[in-house]
Amino acid sequence: TGMFTYDPGFTSTAACDSAITYIDGDKGELLYRGYPIEQLSESSSYTEVCYLLLYGELPTKAQLDEFNELVTRHTMVHEQMHYFYRGFRRDAHPMAIMTGVVGAMAAFYHDSTDITDPQQREIASIRMIAKMPTIAAMAYKYSVGQPFVYPRNDLDYASNFLHMCFSVPAENYKVNPTIAKAMDLIFTLHADHEQNASTSTVRLAGSSDANPFACIAAGVACLWGPAHGGANEAALNMLKQIGTVDRIPEFIARAKDKSDPFKLMGFGHRVYKNFDPRATVMQKTAKEVLDLLGVHNNPTLQVAQELEKIALEDPYFIERKLYPNVDFYSGIILEAIGFPTSMFTVLFSVARTVGWISQWKEMIADPQKKIGRPRQLYDGSPARDYEPVSAR
Ligand code: CMC
Repeated sequence: TGMFTYDPGFTSTAACDSAITYIDGDKGELLYRGYPIEQLSESSSYTEVCYLLLYGELPTKAQLDEFNELVTRHTMVHEQMHYFYRGFRRDAHPMAIMTGVVGAMAAFYHDSTDITDPQQREIASIRMIAKMPTIAAMAYKYSVGQPFVYPRNDLDYASNFLHMCFSVPAENYKVNPTIAKAMDLIFTLHADHEQNASTSTVRLAGSSDANPFACIAAGVACLWGPAHGGANEAALNMLKQIGTVDRIPEFIARAKDKSDPFKLMGFGHRVYKNFDPRATVMQKTAKEVLDLLGVHNNPTLQVAQELEKIALEDPYFIERKLYPNVDFYSGIILEAIGFPTSMFTVLFSVARTVGWISQWKEMIADPQKKIGRPRQLYDGSPARDYEPVSAR
């Protein structure tokens, strides 16, 4: 009609102003509040990055201590939420459980849902960052039939999460600090990524002034898809399906065949057309974690490295600028740590919560905020008269 700009998939529409995350896809650059992801992943920690994303500046020592204390104080979930889990089948996908339980938080925290009050927005934000690891660990424990483990507030964010997932009562579980560091790094690399599909979902849901916990549940639901956060689970399953290096050409051929829906999972990105800087850090860490755990000649890592090499020399992938993304190597680390593939996207959702909340808070405080309401180009039937069923 010429009245609207037609942009399916939003490849060229900026839907908001934002001062949080910057991506230059041609240069392979990712900045949180101006700081390069390489420096943050090398020197910072996940909760420091949370503070940075939420408030715009790196904290002083005192500010970081206070923030850590605040997050720690809110790690417990309401005891009643235990019953909520028990309504799910044990073999339910943990992302299905996450979508339900995160949304259900709206029913538990009435004192943090008046979004017109900045203080309530603040407390809702802290609650979500603090409780997501607890909710995620409970989803895991439920799926393996073990008792829920309460948070331990003397541990840092990543260590506490590993403790809640892997500690079994009666066993003296100790978190390996190097594994905790790898977990913290994975959280840091996933913390925010400007207007990706799930973040845009949170913004759109929040644009109607909806309950913040419900908005985050919408983000979790969107993240689950294999084209988005679900790709980490799909990528590892694919690497295992390939199994051995000699079978790679068969799968590369399938990925190039347009009549075959198969895609190389963990490859390609809407914005990065040179490399994904998160994948570079992730690949290095994958090797370190496997070395640390004494895993040598890991077949999955071998397939991943060889697949990357072959794909990057293939004209199909070169022409389309398809490179490994963050999800390509993360699964190898997560599997080595001991997580089943069904938990991979759950971990992504824990990490991305701070990004969703930072973006939600920025939007709510924006004087330009309007309800999100895309238009369409209608291509259905023209107006016609109703016919009674007897005449059809
Ligand atoms: N394997 C084979 N071909 C591909 C792939 C792939 N992984 N990704 C894109 N292509 C082809 C696509 O078929 C198209 O070819 P043609 O021009 O001949 O039609 C061309 O490359 C451009 O792709 P597109 O689908 O138009 O690109 P997009 O920006 O719409 O999609 C993407 C981006 C990430 C959804 C897509 O690359 C994909 O599905 N990748 C696999 C899933 C994945 O790894 N997702 C994780 C994304 S990163 C972080 C996250 O969100 O979790």
